[in-house]
Amino acid sequence: MTEAILLVGGKGTRLRPLTVHTPKPMVPAAGVPFLTHQLARARAAGVEHVVMATSYLAEVFEPHFGDGSDLGLHLEYVTEEEPLGTGGALRNVASRLTSGRDEPVLVFNGDILTGLDIRALVRTHADAGADVSLHLTRVADPRAFGLVPTDDDGRVTAFLEKPQTPEEIVTDQINAGAYVFQRSVIDTIPHDRPVSVERETFPGLLADGAHLQGMVDSTYWLDLGTPQAFVRGSADLVLGHAPSPAVPGRRGACLVLDGATVAEDAKLSGGTAVGAGAVVGTGARVEGSTLLDGAVVEPDAVVRDSLIGAGARVGARTVLDGAVIGDRAEVGPDNELRDGIRIWCGARIGAGAVRFSSDQ
Ligand code: GDD
Ligand code: MG
Repeated sequence: MTEAILLVGGKGTRLRPLTVHTPKPMVPAAGVPFLTHQLARARAAGVEHVVMATSYLAEVFEPHFGDGSDLGLHLEYVTEEEPLGTGGALRNVASRLTSGRDEPVLVFNGDILTGLDIRALVRTHADAGADVSLHLTRVADPRAFGLVPTDDDGRVTAFLEKPQTPEEIVTDQINAGAYVFQRSVIDTIPHDRPVSVERETFPGLLADGAHLQGMVDSTYWLDLGTPQAFVRGSADLVLGHAPSPAVPGRRGACLVLDGATVAEDAKLSGGTAVGAGAVVGTGARVEGSTLLDGAVVEPDAVVRDSLIGAGARVGARTVLDGAVIGDRAEVGPDNELRDGIRIWCGARIGAGAVRFSSDQ
């Protein structure tokens, strides 16, 4: 087992405005583009060759990762002119695979942070003699995911992507976004038209009697598809709750990249990451948050569970809680922004313009 395909072509709509200029897998988490963590974990599990299936903002991946040798990988890039969907993307890169028909190929969604034991998934696949094996995890609310019920032997009995009705919610086991495919199965996906692996390929394989095996585990798992999840994931990487060999520094309350300036009495906690060239002013408190490169937090601001985009500025005494500030946006002093608010890239908010409370 040495090959993997990474699906990194999605538009990242739910993460906007973070994904206006940057594809989701390239948004920095704990100081490096998120994808770095996935690549480093794949490498650590013995993967040597990775094919990146790109589409949205495809041009930014290769200049950053190059041939992959910095990570000890051989990386290739394939770009879809029009997005081909998750299944079409796999078929579209098949010509770059070197595995034989009966060899396993790993596939990863490009937005998953997990402690999955990748080798164990490959072993489960081989032991079961499956056509495809899927990493499954349990979540409290499965509606935003693919539901994957299994029988007593772990064999998949159905695949219900994003259930619409209560009757469809038959399990709390969901597709966790990591698969092992027999190479020959990838070759059967139709090419030159969009195909969803979740809505078409998996149900079709089940209907044809193919063996899909599920491996449920309870290790750390997070889909970084929403701003709140992204901020949580970055903080968990910094804290060491989520495993990655690629965090550039020691695990702890905060990660401050070279070239950042943090005032001596500023307080950074909860897995806060401060990017290169970012500035945190005197008296500011930043908790569980991500400051991208060149972001500025002015004196006495309070920032919690928020993401501040590259070059964005948060004014003095402003409070952010569960907020996303787009690249180069400017939030003036004495604002209060909460509860999932998204400030678009380059937007300007004047002094004291937004409050959620009347206390001042
Ligand atoms: N190359 C390419 N082309 N990649 C794509 C395309 C495409 O057209 N569409 C999506 N992707 C990539 C995304 O970049 C992402 O890495 C991955 O495929 C999954 O897409 P998401 O948009 O993140 O899907 P999701 O989170 O709603 O659902 C998927 O993941 C869940 C687990 O997080 C499904 O696989 C669900 O079944 C699963 O439960
Ligand atoms: Mg996702």
